[in-house]
Amino acid sequence: MNFLRLAILLSTFIIIFFFKSAHPQILALNVFNYSTHETFIIHVQKPPKSTINMLTVEDYRNYHRSFLPTHTLASGEPRLIYSYHNAISGFAAKLTRDEAKAIEKVPGVLRADPDRALSLHTTHVNDFLGINHNSCFMRDTESAMGAIIGILDAGVLPTHPSFTDRGIAHPPPPGKWRGHCDFKPAMCNNKIVGAKSFNHAGKGLPFDFEGHGTHTASVAAGGIVKNADVLGNARGTAAGAAPRAHLAIYKVCHSGGCLASDVLAGIDQAIADGVDVISLSLGGPAIPFYDDAVAIGALAAIERGIFVSSSAGNSGPARSTVGNDAPWMLTAGASSMDRAILATVRLGNGEEFDGESSYQPIGFTSILLPIVYPGARGGSRVKTCSDGSLNRINVRGKIVLCHTGGTNTSIEKGAIVMRAGGVAMIVVNEEKRRCTVEAEAHVLPTAHVSTSAGGRIIAYLRTMRENPTAVILFKGTVYGNSPAPAVAAFSGRGPSAVNEGIMKPDIVGPGVNILAAWPFPVGPPVVEVGNVTTPTFNVVSGTSASAALLAGVAALLKISHPEWSPAEIKSALMTTADVLDRDGGPIADETLGAAGYLAAGAGQVNPTRANDPGLVYDIQPGDYVRYLCGLGYTDMQVSAISRRAVKCAVVDSMAAEDLNYPAVSVAMGTKMEKTVTRTVRNVCEEEAVYTAKIRAPEGVEASVYPEKLGFSEKNQSMSYNVYLSSGEVGGRRGSVGQGLITWVSNKHIVRSPLLVSFA
Ligand SMILES: *[C@@H]1O[C@H](CO)[C@@H](O)[C@H](O)[C@H]1NC(C)=O
Ligand SMILES: *[C@@H]1O[C@H](CO)[C@@H](O)[C@H](O)[C@H]1NC(C)=O
Ligand SMILES: *[C@@H]1O[C@H](CO)[C@@H](O)[C@H](O)[C@H]1NC(C)=O
Ligand SMILES: *[C@@H]1O[C@H](CO)[C@@H](O)[C@H](O)[C@H]1NC(C)=O
Repeated sequence: MNFLRLAILLSTFIIIFFFKSAHPQILALNVFNYSTHETFIIHVQKPPKSTINMLTVEDYRNYHRSFLPTHTLASGEPRLIYSYHNAISGFAAKLTRDEAKAIEKVPGVLRADPDRALSLHTTHVNDFLGINHNSCFMRDTESAMGAIIGILDAGVLPTHPSFTDRGIAHPPPPGKWRGHCDFKPAMCNNKIVGAKSFNHAGKGLPFDFEGHGTHTASVAAGGIVKNADVLGNARGTAAGAAPRAHLAIYKVCHSGGCLASDVLAGIDQAIADGVDVISLSLGGPAIPFYDDAVAIGALAAIERGIFVSSSAGNSGPARSTVGNDAPWMLTAGASSMDRAILATVRLGNGEEFDGESSYQPIGFTSILLPIVYPGARGGSRVKTCSDGSLNRINVRGKIVLCHTGGTNTSIEKGAIVMRAGGVAMIVVNEEKRRCTVEAEAHVLPTAHVSTSAGGRIIAYLRTMRENPTAVILFKGTVYGNSPAPAVAAFSGRGPSAVNEGIMKPDIVGPGVNILAAWPFPVGPPVVEVGNVTTPTFNVVSGTSASAALLAGVAALLKISHPEWSPAEIKSALMTTADVLDRDGGPIADETLGAAGYLAAGAGQVNPTRANDPGLVYDIQPGDYVRYLCGLGYTDMQVSAISRRAVKCAVVDSMAAEDLNYPAVSVAMGTKMEKTVTRTVRNVCEEEAVYTAKIRAPEGVEASVYPEKLGFSEKNQSMSYNVYLSSGEVGGRRGSVGQGLITWVSNKHIVRSPLLVSFA
C-alpha cells in the first residue's frame, strides 16, 4: 500500500502515528510474547472529514492495519478482523493484552477494548401481538410497506412460510437499499431482502440453527400465517407487527453466543445497507457506554436516522437488572397477554390449578395418576430435576413435580423425566418467577404453574403421604385472562446499575408466550412422513420478542411519519403507552403488586395511539454528546463513543435529567430544589391548547410552568419547566418516588413519567 498517498490524504496526527506504529516497543512485544491473542475492538480518531469521501474500503483497511504491530500473526493468520466504517471509527483485531495496552498509547488511538460475549435475550420460547391487522392505522401505513427492518440475531430460515412475499403483496425494496443476500437467490425475495453472516471464527451462511433469529424476525415483520400449528393442536395466527415490511438479516450470534465485534460488524453493515430500523434482542449487563460496543454502534445508527429497538434483558425481577440502557436506544421489557394455553392440574382431592403448555396432547388420560415430588427431601438438583438427579428415584408411570431453575430448561426437564420413566410433569415456578408461566413446547404432557399454585400442590402432597394423585387436563387456548398485560418476572428492571438519571426500561410489550416462526420441529419426537418437514412455529418468552415487536411498531411509525427522528418515534411510543390493564387497574407485576416505572417503563405499547401522539419530545444527536460529557467521561471516552473529536470543556455538558427525554428522572436529597426543562413539538395538524397536570411523588412538591401551551400551527415547538422541591428524605432514602406529568388537549393526552430517586 502506498503510505505516501494515505499520508497525504490524512492529517498530520496520522502521519505522526505512522512513525509511532513502527515503534520498537510494539514490535518488541510481538517478538517476545507469543502468548494468547484475543480479539480487541480498537477505537481510533476518524480520518479528517475532507478526505473521508475519497477513501476506498481498502484505504480504510490499510489505515486500520497501520495501527497494528504486524499485519499477520506468527501463524500467518491476519490480525485485522473487521475494519468498521459506520458503527465506530475503528477496527477489530487479534492482539495480546500487552500489545493492546501498547496500542492504546499510540496517538490517534482512543481505546482498545477486549471483545465481549453477549447473549440472546430469550428465556426459553405467542398470538396476541397487541395489534389489530385490520385497524385503520395498519391499513393507512400499509402495514409498514417499504420499511426495512434489520434483525441482528442468530440468522433465519428463509424458506419458512412466514417469510413468503406472496399472499400479501411486497414491492421490491426502495432504491436506497444497498444490501445483499448471501443465500441462494431463490431463498431471498421481497420479504427477506438481505442476509449476511458475521462470524470471525469462520465463514458460513446466515441460516438459523438456534430458532431465536427466525422467531424475532417473524415477530417484527413475519407475514400473516393463519392456523399456525405449534404441536398439532395449539393453533393461532402468527403475524409480525409490520407484516409488509422488508427484513434484512444480520447473523451475529452463533452457537457459542454473540461477540460484540460481530454485532458491531452487523450494525456497521446495516447502516451501510440503508435499513430504517434495527432490532437488537441481545446484550449483557449494563456497563459504562465507552465499554459498550453495542451502545456505541447504536448511537451511530440513530445519527443516521435509524431507530434502534433493544431488549431489556431477562435477568429480572431483581432491581437494576436492565441492560441496553443507553438513552438513544429503545429499551423494551416484556409483558404477558390475556391468552393462555391451558394445562390444568386436578388433584385427587378435586382442587384445580391452571397452568400452561403449548404441547396439548390429544387423548391424554383423564384418570388420576400417582404424583411424586423428588425434591421433597433433597437438594436443589433434585428439586429442579436436573440431569442425573432422578436416577435413584422411582418415577415410573408417575407425574413428576419439578421446580424451575437449576442447570436444565423446563423442556430439558421433560426429557429427563421421560427418560426416568415418568409420564407427565408439573413445572412449578421457583420463588422469584411467581406468576410468569410459560406455554412451552414440552416433550411430554406438562403443566407449568405459578409459585403459589405449586405451593398448594406441594401442601396436598404433604397431607396425602400415602398415595397422592393428579391428572393434567389440556383445555386449549383461552382468552380474557387477568391480569393482562402484566410485567413478566424475568423482564429486566430499572434503574440501570451503571447509568442512572434516565428511566429504563422505556416501555413494555408482549414477550410472554409469543407464537412465531421456528426453523425446526419442536416438542415430542414425531415421525416425519417421507422427507417432508412441516413448517413449524413455536411459543417462546423473553424480552427479545418484545424488542422485535417494538421494532415492527417503529417501522409502522416510520412509514406514517417519515419526518420523525428516532427520538421522536420513541417519544410517541412512550407518551401514549397504556398505564392501565384490561380490567382498568394499574399494570401489574407478575411478581406481585403494581409494576411501576422501574418494571414497566412508560407502560404497555399502544401502536394506534403512538401514531397520533399530539406532542413529541425530540433529542438531537449533539445533545447525546453533551449528555456523555455530563456523565463525567473523559474527552477520549466521549470521542470514542461519538466517533468525533470532542472536548467536553467546549461542548457545554448536560446533566442526564436535562436531556429532552420523554420521562423526567431526578435525584434529590433532603430539602432540595430542582428545575428541569423540556421542549415539545406539536405534530398534530391543528392548533391546539394543552393544559398541564402534575402528580408529584410522595415527599416532593412539584409544579409546571407555564401551565398552558398554546400551539397555533403544526411543527411549532414550546418549552416548559418542572419545579421540584423535596422535604425530609428520611426513610425514603434509596427508594424511587413516582409521579406523572401530563399534557392534555381536547384530543390528546401526552404522559411523561416523573421519577425522583431519594438520595
Ligand atoms: C505475555 O502476555 C500475557 C498476556 O497476554 C502475559 O500474561 C505475559 O506475562 C506476557 N509475557 C511476557 C514475557 O511478556
Ligand atoms: C441438562 O443440562 C446440562 C448442562 O447444561 C446438559 O449438559 C444436558 O445435556 C442437559 N440435559 C438435557 C436432557 O438436555
Ligand atoms: C429422502 O431424502 C433422501 C436423501 O436426501 C432421498 O434419497 C429419498 O429419496 C428421499 N425420500 C423421499 C420419500 O422423498
Ligand atoms: C417541521 O419541521 C421539520 C424539522 O424541524 C421539517 O423537516 C419539516 O419540513 C417541518 N414540517 C412542516 C410541515 O413545516
